[in-house]
Amino acid sequence: MSPNRVDPHSYTESTHPFTTHISLSSYFDFPSSTILSSAHLTLNSPHSGPLSLDTRSLSISTVIDSLSTKTPIPFSLSPIVDPIKGQQLTVTLANNSEFVIIFSTSPASSALQWLSPPQTFNKTLPFVYTQCQAIHARSIFPCQDTPAARVRFSARLNVPIELSAVMAARHVERRLPLTTDTAMACEDTKWCAEGRIVEEFVMEQPIPPYLFAFAVGEMSSREVGPRTRVYAESAPSLLDTAAKEFAGSEDMIRVGESLFGPYEWERFDLLVLPPSFPYGGMENPRMVFLTPTVIKGDASGAQVVAHELAHSWTGNLITNKNNDHFWLNEGFTTYAERRIVEAVQGENIAALNIGIGWKGLKEEMDRFKDNMEFTKLKTNQEAVDPDAVYSQVPYEKGFQFLWRIEREIGRPAFDEFLKKYISTFKFQSIDTDMFLEFLKVNVPGIEKKIDLQLWTEGTGIPPDAMEPVSDIYSKIVSLAKEFNLGRMPKEDEVADWRGQEWELYLENLPKSVEASQVLSLDTSYRLSESKDYEIKVAFLQMAISASCKKYYGEVEKTLKEVGRMKYLRPLYTALVKGPGLEEEKIFAKRVFSEARVTYHPIAQGVVESIFAKHL
Ligand code: BES
Ligand code: ZN
Repeated sequence: MSPNRVDPHSYTESTHPFTTHISLSSYFDFPSSTILSSAHLTLNSPHSGPLSLDTRSLSISTVIDSLSTKTPIPFSLSPIVDPIKGQQLTVTLANNSEFVIIFSTSPASSALQWLSPPQTFNKTLPFVYTQCQAIHARSIFPCQDTPAARVRFSARLNVPIELSAVMAARHVERRLPLTTDTAMACEDTKWCAEGRIVEEFVMEQPIPPYLFAFAVGEMSSREVGPRTRVYAESAPSLLDTAAKEFAGSEDMIRVGESLFGPYEWERFDLLVLPPSFPYGGMENPRMVFLTPTVIKGDASGAQVVAHELAHSWTGNLITNKNNDHFWLNEGFTTYAERRIVEAVQGENIAALNIGIGWKGLKEEMDRFKDNMEFTKLKTNQEAVDPDAVYSQVPYEKGFQFLWRIEREIGRPAFDEFLKKYISTFKFQSIDTDMFLEFLKVNVPGIEKKIDLQLWTEGTGIPPDAMEPVSDIYSKIVSLAKEFNLGRMPKEDEVADWRGQEWELYLENLPKSVEASQVLSLDTSYRLSESKDYEIKVAFLQMAISASCKKYYGEVEKTLKEVGRMKYLRPLYTALVKGPGLEEEKIFAKRVFSEARVTYHPIAQGVVESIFAKHL
């Protein structure tokens, strides 16, 4: 990283002032899958000379000093397109503390998925949504796209009147467009044309750019708690099941507040996205984005909600300075998620989750055996695409580190430490060293008890990490080990198993099993037809490893109906990894060529990189 950079994934320079506010006016053009925009950036101090911003696949038309004087500001877009960082935009300022950029997005914007009407639930109107983490906000608007910069937002989204818009921000109003708010995003006649509506939002708290989020489509909502509504595509069946699934949200927010301090974001709304949403959940502030696969009709989606809610403290209040310190976001959040789950669902479920995570962590050690850098908590992501190295390591090794500290000092002391950590650093972006410094000051002598350097800078799993201690956990793991000896779990043994029990069981089965065993497991327990994708995908992955072709139809169906990368990754990998498998490789390529258009651009990229590695 060059000396004056603050983030390996951004052109932002440490000697330049940070942006503190961005005001967006955006005209959504669905027929061309583009957004015509104007962005008014305010800096924390006036600046003269070049200022570097991040962009990706944006067309910049003009930069001016303000909408009233419209004095042009010289700018240049670097001809070099970095495959990871995108294109550097340099604006040359003359003691300006604000300026306006007029630009448009491209249909290939990596943050946006544009769904045509047939790809939506009701099949009549289009839909578009964002996913900005890790480094995709720059494909929607030019910005210092680093979490080191915290920004307040206001936005006017001009959309077709049949649609509505939601944002991870406070909704101000829905009203007819005015010529006074075009802000040069497009011509006034276009902005104010019949059939258009403006949805206005403000985000008053400073957030890292990766938390910028909106969705536009045919949506409705149901109230599920005093500060929570669930939004989804307008379909009563979908909204009703979603409202039931998330009925426990308020209880979880209260648990979070008692453990981590006040909930600072006022609302905690939920948005259920179309099945192509690439993650399980995304912690967009005030409005978490969720995959519909978490709705299973048995309130088990609570774990994902607990996780995204936990980010309201760890990640959104205290943010990693850049992706090298991503474990500060996800490790703390995984710890906090499990504390919430323990409080609302009990110790057993929390122990199962820890056990599933432990297994996941060990598997990542195998995945990264030739690239041990990514088994560290503090990583070096110079010239590395964060989406390509996304893994369980920051989550589970981070969780293990915090759990280790908890064991050392006891829960009451650790709880107090956590609360103090959050209140000390809230609304700041920090790095691993700042955390360690705070730990050493507040827990004197901790460095003599725990090898902090080994935990944060070492590769692999430290010897003082540990498996959960719980009867049900041990029972399931040993049942899984006996599978190899031909022992199938008996009906009475699995009678009260729900999602997590099966997930843990399947994850712990031996890597190579006989096709006949796969078949008999499915004959008894119908795992290939499970409504729970965690179970279904774990089963199908095993079926592929055993070359059980009977299930390839189900594999294809799954790959075509969901775009959550947690499911795409293992299925495509199982199909193409390793020698032999010629038929599977051809099959995988065909399915991907047919399913590709239905995936979010980030998921497309991830599947392509799996193919690039193994084909
Ligand atoms: N912030 C992550 C999702 C993410 C990470 C998006 C990195 C882009 C880049 C989110 O909080 C998350 O961890 N989601 C998990 C939920 C699970 C751990 C309960 C997921 O999507 O599976
Ligand atoms: Zn997370």
